[in-house]
Amino acid sequence: MTRPGKPPLQLSHDEMEAMGRRALDFVIRHFEANRDGPVARQITRADAERLLRTPLPEQGTPVDELIDLLASDVFPNGFRTDHPRFYSFVPSPNNFVSVVGDLLTSGTNLFAGHWMAASGAAQIEMVVIDWLKELVGFPAEGSGIMVSGGSMANLSAVAAAREVRLGGADARAVVYCSDQTHSSVAKGLRIIGFRPEQRRTVATDDSLRLSMPALEAAIKEDRAADRLPFCVVANAGTTNTGAVDPLGPLADLCARESIWLHVDGAYGAAAVITGRGRAALKGIERADSVTLDPHKWLFQPFELGCLLVRDPTVLPRAFRVDDADHPDYLADVTRHIKHDVNFYEHGVQLTRSFKALKLWLSLRAYGLAEFRRAIDVGFDMAELAERTLLESGRWTIVTPAQMGVVTFRWNDATKSDAEIDAITSRTVDLMREDGYALVMSTMLRGRPALRLCPIHPATMPEEIRETIARLERFSQLADAG
Ligand SMILES: Cc1ncc(COP(=O)(O)O)c(C=O)c1O
Repeated sequence: MTRPGKPPLQLSHDEMEAMGRRALDFVIRHFEANRDGPVARQITRADAERLLRTPLPEQGTPVDELIDLLASDVFPNGFRTDHPRFYSFVPSPNNFVSVVGDLLTSGTNLFAGHWMAASGAAQIEMVVIDWLKELVGFPAEGSGIMVSGGSMANLSAVAAAREVRLGGADARAVVYCSDQTHSSVAKGLRIIGFRPEQRRTVATDDSLRLSMPALEAAIKEDRAADRLPFCVVANAGTTNTGAVDPLGPLADLCARESIWLHVDGAYGAAAVITGRGRAALKGIERADSVTLDPHKWLFQPFELGCLLVRDPTVLPRAFRVDDADHPDYLADVTRHIKHDVNFYEHGVQLTRSFKALKLWLSLRAYGLAEFRRAIDVGFDMAELAERTLLESGRWTIVTPAQMGVVTFRWNDATKSDAEIDAITSRTVDLMREDGYALVMSTMLRGRPALRLCPIHPATMPEEIRETIARLERFSQLADAG
């Protein structure tokens, strides 16, 4: 049978090259100009509707026109999380080598679900996981999986811990985390069927680190009430303040109590490659599982998270489908691959992309030393920010620079806490309108505090000083007003 005309959805070499060049030029300009323009921009829902709503198109539009539209109305209207003066939340400084990695991943579209479909890709993923295991100090026989991000890694970790320790859901099971734990843990627990009373929120100490006496008391109380303490989720760099829970004492306690220790290092664990990070994260190597997000402090494009586990049998026990339930259409595959690493049996997804490629490519291309230098900039800039704030005498440091995060409040002895709260919120708004840098607040002990997380490796010391000078000007304005 002949088909008239060009086969559908196929482009000629020249068309692909022209389109690719256009997109590549755009991305290169984005990297070159990542300091220009405001750090954050937003349009109203009404404007977004007007600019971007179109009927479902029956016929096509030239891609050049569509890239123009994206460049004018889509990409600029948001947070520029890869801007060297984006200091809020967890910034996402990117690296160009990994962008090329993502292009190769989507361009080749390997199915990275099992060995037969992508043995080379599975091997690369195993190598990357081994590197990350080595960095956190896990034993060589441990395993892991690349996932979409920290939320999925944390969910997978507690699901695996429950399966391995309890053999499935148990209404008596209790998970412990601190009042600084990322909300993805509560969300993951709810998704996998934990009720709110099965999650104990343990108090933190003055440094916002999980309090060991409070945890020990909670475990004791739960055991006395015939509940089943089975998992502690510890922080290795909280999003709020960069605090690291006492990982060594937690590992001791969990060993004594036969409790699974999961460490959420989505943000902070990557810092283990630096001297300051390694010192802060001491004990992480004793966890049963660790979340580490390369799309945070390893400078990778979204979406790249990673779950590492000490015991290699854990992930297949939790995520392998029983033989009776195996899809019939995978029979030929499973006949051959029983002894190979099949990532669909290590996590939630069957169809999954070759996510590991970008991290492998950038680590091979730059070398770990370059990443270490990049992370050290974040430590340096947060420490510089703390010194600059202290020197000015107008600020109270709420939490000192740790793991690239510093938090602080306006200091005016004539004002009440509530008035300082209002000044803080006003300062955030004025700073955002100004557009020079994005600085937001977080709630610490029930009060708002400004927060800087300056982890972009290209951030310059003068940018930190200028940001703080502006914060001071805006707080003075808010204070006077
Ligand atoms: C400590 C921590 N854990 C988990 C998460 C959730 O990760 P993701 O947003 O990649 O799902 C975050 C996100 O900022 C985080 O900082």
